Amino acid sequence: MKIICVMGARPNFVKVAALYRAFTKHPEFSVKLLHTGQHYDDVMYRVFLRQLSLPDPDFSLNIRGGSHTEQTANIMLGFEKILLNERPDMVFVVGDVNSSLACALVAVKEAVKVAHIEAGLRSGDKAMPEEINRILIDHISDELFVSEMSAVANLQSENIGADKIHFVGNVMIDSLIYCKGRAMELSVFERLGLKSNAYFVMTMHRPSNVDSSQALIELIGLIEAVSNLGAVVFPVHPRTKSSLIRHGFWDKVQRINGLILLAPQGYLEFFNLVANAILVITDSGGVQEETTFLDVPCVTFRANTERPATTEGGSNYLVGGVAAVDTAIGIIKKILNEEKKQTSLPPLWDGFASERIAEIVKKKYTK
Ligand code: UD1
Ligand code: UDP
Repeated sequence: MKIICVMGARPNFVKVAALYRAFTKHPEFSVKLLHTGQHYDDVMYRVFLRQLSLPDPDFSLNIRGGSHTEQTANIMLGFEKILLNERPDMVFVVGDVNSSLACALVAVKEAVKVAHIEAGLRSGDKAMPEEINRILIDHISDELFVSEMSAVANLQSENIGADKIHFVGNVMIDSLIYCKGRAMELSVFERLGLKSNAYFVMTMHRPSNVDSSQALIELIGLIEAVSNLGAVVFPVHPRTKSSLIRHGFWDKVQRINGLILLAPQGYLEFFNLVANAILVITDSGGVQEETTFLDVPCVTFRANTERPATTEGGSNYLVGGVAAVDTAIGIIKKILNEEKKQTSLPPLWDGFASERIAEIVKKKYTK
């Protein structure tokens, strides 16, 4: 069975790496990798291939940035040629990025089967570009592989047939477990002059938090307030950095006392930083899940999450809306004062999600 796995943006490499490892163990599958070029800097792309044992992609579209429409349309045009040439039996798309929607659409229009990994997540917020992508991908896919139970309920409530829905666990956690030994051997925080359990890690890149001047003013208020409580390590996403520069805030941020600004970190380096942090502040989807697995308290600076397993059982606290900075600081202070909640791991976040996916596909499509 011939499969193409699509990778576009940073979290996709982490997910596809787990799938690639599982599928290549089975002789029934021939797997090819496609990189759309949505993320392209070495620190957003190459380092992930290297650290997650992925080979160079078989196909690269090199599409880079642009508006949502440009990006999606360019990927569609590029992928159509490859799909028509290769005629795979199934295209695998992961998560909710533009690359995933674009390639799923091309495949379905050419009557090629589509599998969606991390299906069914819903934030309920259609102002998020990812929410539109999630809904559309789920409704055109043939097989839906689900990472947490809330997603099964979401898909059922949208009348998607039960035969397509497979609750398999979380491929992001497969990669985390695969890399744990190597990540924990590094001394990233020590090299920054920090002690384990005595600093914060921050990541921010959602358009709602970083695109407008107003949002950046609020974000800077948050950074300043957290920096007053302890050192903050902040690997800055390219979207965030270019917005800070564009709005004239970059110099101000560089001067914040106690803030350690870094380039985007490699997967292992970032893992090491998070695992040793006292608390993480983020708006990332993947980081909410990774902190839940590592049982590191996480404050998610958003009004909603498509990953409720991380707030219900996991170590994640959701903070958004009016006076979000004050609320976030209040929660952080509480957590630092030993009011950390009891947590539990979501079911099937055990390192074998990709293997389950491979087995299901094999049984359904290769006999
Ligand atoms: C994208 C995804 C988002 C995901 C995030 C992961 C969509 C709609 N958004 O957001 O869901 O959470 O990736 O990080 O698919 N850039 C670089 N170098 C790079 C990559 C990006 O400089 O290697 C800059 C470019 O100026 C680009 C901008 O960042 O225009 C935004 O990149 P883009 O992929 O469009 O959106 P993200 O905000 O990264
Ligand atoms: N990540 C990383 N280096 C960083 C920041 C994040 O390796 O400097 C990893 C993180 O561990 C997770 C993934 O990138 O595996 C999440 O990507 P991102 O936050 O960009 O996207 P999202 O998950 O929000 O779509």
